[in-house]
Amino acid sequence: MQSLFPKETHFPSQVLCQKGCLADLAKETAPFGARGIVVHGASLEKKGLTETFAESFQKLKLVPEFFCRARGEPTLEEIRQVIQKGRAHRADWVLGIGGGSVLDLAKAAAGLFHAKQPPVYYQEGGALLEKGLPFIAVPTTAGSGSEATPNAVIINPEKKVKLSIRHPDFLAQKVLLDVELLQGLPFSVMCQSGMDAWVQAYESFISKYATWFSESYALKAIQLINRHLLPALTNGREEDLNGLLLGSFFSGIAFSHSRLGVIHGIAHPLGVLYGVPHGLVCSVCFAPSVKLNLPVIRQKYEIMSQTVGADFLTRITGVLAELKISSPFKGKAILEQEKIIRETLQSGSTTANPKPVTPEDVQFLLDEIF
Ligand SMILES: [Fe+2]
Repeated sequence: MQSLFPKETHFPSQVLCQKGCLADLAKETAPFGARGIVVHGASLEKKGLTETFAESFQKLKLVPEFFCRARGEPTLEEIRQVIQKGRAHRADWVLGIGGGSVLDLAKAAAGLFHAKQPPVYYQEGGALLEKGLPFIAVPTTAGSGSEATPNAVIINPEKKVKLSIRHPDFLAQKVLLDVELLQGLPFSVMCQSGMDAWVQAYESFISKYATWFSESYALKAIQLINRHLLPALTNGREEDLNGLLLGSFFSGIAFSHSRLGVIHGIAHPLGVLYGVPHGLVCSVCFAPSVKLNLPVIRQKYEIMSQTVGADFLTRITGVLAELKISSPFKGKAILEQEKIIRETLQSGSTTANPKPVTPEDVQFLLDEIF
């Protein structure tokens, strides 16, 4: 019989979800101490928000130091840089404001702030004994669900691998969900991050480790993203953006209690080898994964179809077509095929896939997208 409840739960300590709550960022940060590091991306600077924050922090006598990260997904070296900057600044907290990459970097830097070993040690499974700094998360995209999870996905460029560093203490002490931050996002960012959240919710819902608890969040995320993704992209209405923001948050809560599946297993090696954005890799693996798993998820497939109001596979292929998402791998040679297959099979996400994944199954996915 399926379990109702996971062995343990992981929730951010406090979540504020209200339009305009970003205006209270300094007030909400103040209880964690006067000094901190704000990790962000270049778009925040372009919008003039770093100056606005600096002023509001100053009014409350907070002393932030800003760390603007480069494009792409975060690396071990970047964690070291944020920690170094934070230690020099005598930081009391780390705040991440941005997309999944920014939040993952800020989360790892906060969690490993007092760690005795270099970040790679913990990525390779070393035990973390030292408590880090409080982490405050403000997502500016609706996609990764990183604000809700205790793990950070980090690239080790030397070994060409992308792996999670996770610890229950990494969970955000405070999350601010402000729909206004999603307004004006580039189409490609909103569409790929939205599809990532949908894939996460789907993989969580069908996961071998799913419980009634995780399924409830996953199904609500599927419903919200299905209903709001296309309208949010075409009209940018607040109601739709808010649906996406919550759908993404719920997908994070869901998969941090169930793990994911083979899409996230294969997405990491493919993302590193080809430099393709995570959301795009997940999007193009979505339909092939459904085809692969269908024989063992018939009942859940029906539930997902009812939730989206159409045959599930038809619906997702229709949405992908409408978003003009096609495989960036089509026609390319498969690089390091054995490495991709080996890493996909070793991935913790793949172990949660409902159909036990064989090398032939990974090959099937590769053949579908190349
Ligand atoms: Fe993802």
